[in-house]
Amino acid sequence: MSPYVTEWVNLILRFTHVITGIAWIGASFYFVWLDNHLEKPPSWKSDKGIGGDLWAIHGGGFYEIAKYKHAPEKMPELLHWFKWEAYSTWLTGFVLLSLMFYVGADIYLIDPSIAQLSQMQAITIGLSVIVGGWVVYDVLCRTKLANHSLILGIILMALITGLSYILSETFSARGAFMHIGAVIGTVMAGNVFFTIMPSQRALVTSVAQGEPVDPSWGAKAKLRSTHNTYATLPLVFIMISNHYPMIFNHEYNWLVLMVIFVITGAIRQYFVAKHKGNQNSLVLVAAVISGISLAIFIAPNTTISKLERQDLKSQTVDLQKIKSIITHRCTSCHSSSPTDDVFTVAQGGVMFDNLSQMSRWAPRIQARAIEAKDMPFMNKTNIEDSERNYIALWIALGAPVK
Ligand code: HEC
Repeated sequence: MSPYVTEWVNLILRFTHVITGIAWIGASFYFVWLDNHLEKPPSWKSDKGIGGDLWAIHGGGFYEIAKYKHAPEKMPELLHWFKWEAYSTWLTGFVLLSLMFYVGADIYLIDPSIAQLSQMQAITIGLSVIVGGWVVYDVLCRTKLANHSLILGIILMALITGLSYILSETFSARGAFMHIGAVIGTVMAGNVFFTIMPSQRALVTSVAQGEPVDPSWGAKAKLRSTHNTYATLPLVFIMISNHYPMIFNHEYNWLVLMVIFVITGAIRQYFVAKHKGNQNSLVLVAAVISGISLAIFIAPNTTISKLERQDLKSQTVDLQKIKSIITHRCTSCHSSSPTDDVFTVAQGGVMFDNLSQMSRWAPRIQARAIEAKDMPFMNKTNIEDSERNYIALWIALGAPVK
């Protein structure tokens, strides 16, 4: 496939993935919100078996929502299910992952400085992790641990931390992050497909046949749906963190991710409790403080901040040398006519054709090549630390062009 066609396929898949993801998460947030805002219904409603009552106004109309305690007496003619949002998010996500990280394994998934894998090996590991992650999770949820949700939660967190560490030693930083995201996304969609939907189908069948409802179906679906609620924010975070190398390219990226997992999970917890009117503001405060502490803790100890503390007046840089470093290490992917074998258009729209362009991009060069060090991309052009330091000095001096 020509790179141009691949780009379009990638764009359309990503667009669809985001839209279906919004529909899925939106519906799921809405139902969590609904459940937690239900009021005790008036007696004429509770006589009909309605357990929860709710009024809302939206888009210029009044809505009256009723939730049955168990089930309606007879099935309505039209019953809306919410499943395609989840399935289509998973499917588009999987195809997108395969296109970027499996077809493009040599570019995005394999980092020879971390592990020398063949494309086949990398893909096999990736797929095994996704399938294995689901199997381990599903088996655990079927054991007696299901009755001890806190212990189960702690075990799941420990497992995902272990996996995150192993993947950070196996794949490129982006590849490792995206696979943790794929495992969580698969667990969430798997919960819908393998547990929540079958439970609901059983529920509907027994109502339709006028049989008593087995409460264990509801309980099983509830556990899985609780897990999905708490996994949502970490999952979305992972998806967007791929644009922030300060997170995914950090030396302890796997640990950083787990801290973020806890922080975002706590934020979700706060809002779920808030719907019920018993939120604990300390949870939100703790999450914000932890987030800020994390940001301070992982701040790059860069040469630039060290340089800025020194007296720079006596220092000078050889601009020809700056130009030569950037031309050698960066312009293969960042110029009006790139020469790289894979990246054939200026990546990220960044071009370093001359010193003034280089100077204009100085803040981003600092972020990517000096601080997060994820540029040059997987250090394909073998930049040396001394060269990064020299660029850092130039930027500390204000990135002069003459
Ligand atoms: C092998 C190809 C390759 C090389 C060499 C390379 N880059 Fe990149 N660069 C990329 C790709 C791919 C992207 C887009 C993906 C992304 O932003 O992570 C990118 C994006 C960028 C961006 C734009 C995004 C932003 O953060 O604003 C900057 C700046 C950047 N690179 C700087 C550099 C610098 C500086 C060098 C040299 C020290 C360099 N790159 C060398 C491939 C490369």
